[in-house]
Amino acid sequence: MAPALKHFLQFKDFSRDELEYLFARTRVIKERFKRYQPYHPLADRTLAMIFEKSSTRTRLSFEAGMHQLGGSAIYLNTRDTQLGRGEPVEDAAEVISRMVDVVMIRTFEQDIIERFAAHSRVPVINGLTNEYHPCQILADIYTYIEQRGPIQGKTVAWIGDSNNMCNTWLQAAEVLDFNVHVSTPPGYEVEPERAGLFGTDHYEAFGDPMDACRGADLVTTDVWTSMGFEAENAERMKAFADWRVDGDMMRVAADAALFMHCLPAHRGEEVEADVIDGPQSVVWNEAENRLHTQKAMLEYLLRGRVED
Ligand code: CP
Ligand code: NVA
Repeated sequence: MAPALKHFLQFKDFSRDELEYLFARTRVIKERFKRYQPYHPLADRTLAMIFEKSSTRTRLSFEAGMHQLGGSAIYLNTRDTQLGRGEPVEDAAEVISRMVDVVMIRTFEQDIIERFAAHSRVPVINGLTNEYHPCQILADIYTYIEQRGPIQGKTVAWIGDSNNMCNTWLQAAEVLDFNVHVSTPPGYEVEPERAGLFGTDHYEAFGDPMDACRGADLVTTDVWTSMGFEAENAERMKAFADWRVDGDMMRVAADAALFMHCLPAHRGEEVEADVIDGPQSVVWNEAENRLHTQKAMLEYLLRGRVED
């Protein structure tokens, strides 16, 4: 029997208790996979992956993840489907969700995925929208816990754009009770309503990125120009020039501070090569953990909590 219908459209769709379950479950699933122990709870189940923007990690991790759980994944994009020819998203949701068991969507406005989910019979997962990237933050927090233990009470420094990644870190801080120090250039500040915050004051804004990094347990950043905002690229290159994560920022962070980046990265833009390729960087573990955290998510959405 399938559990009650649940979607993962933004980070706060999951409670702290559910997230803690997912982190514990990720550890079991990852270890089992590393031991070459077959585990196929999603045999005969199908994931549809709809991409309206490019992807390397998200596509690979969902496709490989479904395969590892015994199911299969179908890749759809706007170019080759009727979605690109104006079929209403609501109609697409009605049809797709009668043919597959779970859907992942990467698209532009959050409203598109919300409308899809409202007409879907099966769970819908946000694989990145302009506003949020919850699957990435799930992997990032799991990576932090794996490396350093609980994240509660810790400080994450977010340097750069108040984009989908930043918004999702802010939501996660409210749900999991940690703090975010945000430093953005003027004109690119956090918009709490767009970030979808409860308003519990788990973040602080800093004009100087060095101040945001001081004492932080994790320093993280992302591209200056996200997908869909390419027309603003030249303007952004100028505005973000002082928001490049460098060795000085890492030196004022806590001694055990980690560096994360969701990737793809631009060395010499948002981060210096000696930081992303340096000893505090965990970007490859972070990328790998997309696979294992999403397997726990898929299992939870399709099978509910499991004991084994
Ligand atoms: N981090 C991330 O989502 O990467 P892709 O754009 O390659 O999927
Ligand atoms: N903020 C970036 C993340 C890419 C994974 C973007 O939306 O393009």
